[in-house]
Amino acid sequence: MTFEAEVAQRIANNGTDQALSRDAQSLMTSSFRAGYSYNFSWMGRPIIQYPQDMIAMQEIIWRVQPDLILETGIAHGGSLIFSAAMLELNAACGGPADAQVLGLDIDIRAHNRKAIEAHPMSRRITMIEGSSIAAEVIAQVQQKAAGKKSVLVCLDSNHTHAHVLAELQAYAPLATVGSYCVVFDTIVEHLPMDMFPDRPWGPGDNPKTAVHEYLKTHPEFEIDRAIDNKLMISVAPDGYLKRVK
Ligand SMILES: C[S@@+](CC[C@H](N)C(=O)[O-])C[C@H]1O[C@@H](n2cnc3c(N)ncnc32)[C@H](O)[C@@H]1O
Repeated sequence: MTFEAEVAQRIANNGTDQALSRDAQSLMTSSFRAGYSYNFSWMGRPIIQYPQDMIAMQEIIWRVQPDLILETGIAHGGSLIFSAAMLELNAACGGPADAQVLGLDIDIRAHNRKAIEAHPMSRRITMIEGSSIAAEVIAQVQQKAAGKKSVLVCLDSNHTHAHVLAELQAYAPLATVGSYCVVFDTIVEHLPMDMFPDRPWGPGDNPKTAVHEYLKTHPEFEIDRAIDNKLMISVAPDGYLKRVK
């Protein structure tokens, strides 16, 4: 068996490994409660992600070679810097030379904007301030995506069902065939209700419920289970949506 085939077999086995699933879920619950996703930075900017998901994004960005990455939810800018850095590496290896990251946030704090704009990766980054589901923002994004050959979409803003469903309707169609629309924080569905006392989302109303609603009428997307089974530790179970047609 080749190395690649062995890896694929091992990953597939994870999907039916009940002990591993149970332990992974337990770690997700306790680590989420401990605010684990806030512990990391990428090239100096705080990134609100689990490292496992960052590795999955690196694998996707290398494979897909996007010339545009659209991200909703900027916060401190770490995920924008991460994406821009991956595009720099792609370009250095013969990938799209002028690939860009487009970030949307309803509230780009002045100090965050300043730090992102001063960052060495900033030449690949454009930011739009406004709600990701506002008609004028969607129109600007569509304009910037026009003519792009390979588009990757990442949704990580307001995590209610209604908001994520509206984002999926607006932006998932921009993901090109073979690329992904990645929906973060689907994990909320599997965490205890008491973890989100000050949030409008929780179990039953979150990115995962929106993903499953969207997929009912969008067979052009499939959940990439190999990514879930590979990571096990992830804030985005069922959230790696691959555009297959
Ligand atoms: C989880 S943080 C994003 C984290 C970032 N992607 C990272 O990995 O570091 C969520 C962000 O979504 C933004 N947000 C909330 N509601 C929004 C909306 N309606 N439209 C756009 N952004 C929104 C918040 O201001 C916040 O900065």
